[in-house]
Amino acid sequence: MRRSSDYVSGVELGAYLGISRAALHKHISHLKKLGYKIEAVPNRGYLLKKAPDVLFDFEIKSLLNAKILGSEVFYFPEISSTQDFCRKLGEEGHPEGAVAVAEVQTKGRGRFGRKWFSPEGGLWFTLLLRPEGISFERLGFLPLIAALAVVKAVEKEAKMATGIKWPNDLMVGKQKFGGILTEVQSELERIHFVLLGIGLNINNKPPSETIYPATSLREATGKKFKRAEILVNFLSLFESFYLSYKKGRVDLLLKEVEQKLMFKGKEVALRSYQELNRVQIVGIDSFGRLIVKRKGKILKLVSGEIEPEGF
Ligand code: BTN
Repeated sequence: MRRSSDYVSGVELGAYLGISRAALHKHISHLKKLGYKIEAVPNRGYLLKKAPDVLFDFEIKSLLNAKILGSEVFYFPEISSTQDFCRKLGEEGHPEGAVAVAEVQTKGRGRFGRKWFSPEGGLWFTLLLRPEGISFERLGFLPLIAALAVVKAVEKEAKMATGIKWPNDLMVGKQKFGGILTEVQSELERIHFVLLGIGLNINNKPPSETIYPATSLREATGKKFKRAEILVNFLSLFESFYLSYKKGRVDLLLKEVEQKLMFKGKEVALRSYQELNRVQIVGIDSFGRLIVKRKGKILKLVSGEIEPEGF
């Protein structure tokens, strides 16, 4: 119904939604107030001409193809951080797949407790996951398959090449357009839940004072994007990757992540555990570790950050 290219009669719509014609009329007026352009033609019915670029929960649900991810969608015009909201959901026992999305975050955060600028026009969301049976060691691969799903979802809409800068930066050329923050609630031997927070500069102006030069999809392409489409594409791609990952089928995913890995084979400045070293990037392994060569020796790193060039 949502994607119908022809008029749908009021009778058909009412029956589909299980509501009266009067109630349908009320809903249509409400949608119009929210910015939906709906044409109503006597004897033909209604036609959705244009949907606003707003991330309403019902909009996302109506476009969604994924089965587990997006089982619950929570929409906020403004929130402190979608991470904090999803942490509460996790503690309350909500099933995995719940998504919280916000137009604006007033206290968005990035890795290492950095502030994450989250103005209108970007895509800021958190996914609640309960990866039962996954060890702490294997958890390192999770943000990389999320990054793979982001770059694929973005490439489908933006028709341009994007890349993954280990461990979880999303890049257009040498500029960062997004990042992933993975927070874990656990005991020493058991993971309770994972909060996968994703922030993408889409139609917004990117922040200017960042460690790594930043951009947005709009700035990089000159086009405006439908953020809900990017979100639902991400959810359906990530769902299939996540299911394979949980079954231990990671070979193909690893290959795909490596194809998107930036600076492969190149020498970079890498900061890891307070040390800054020049290393050559060899690849990654199925635990999400970065394999590097330093002074002829192969090392596998679980944490670190590639510095911008010139360091
Ligand atoms: C980084 O590159 O440092 C990761 C940034 C992650 C930002 C997202 S936006 C949605 C979610 N809520 C937050 O407060 N942070 C993550």
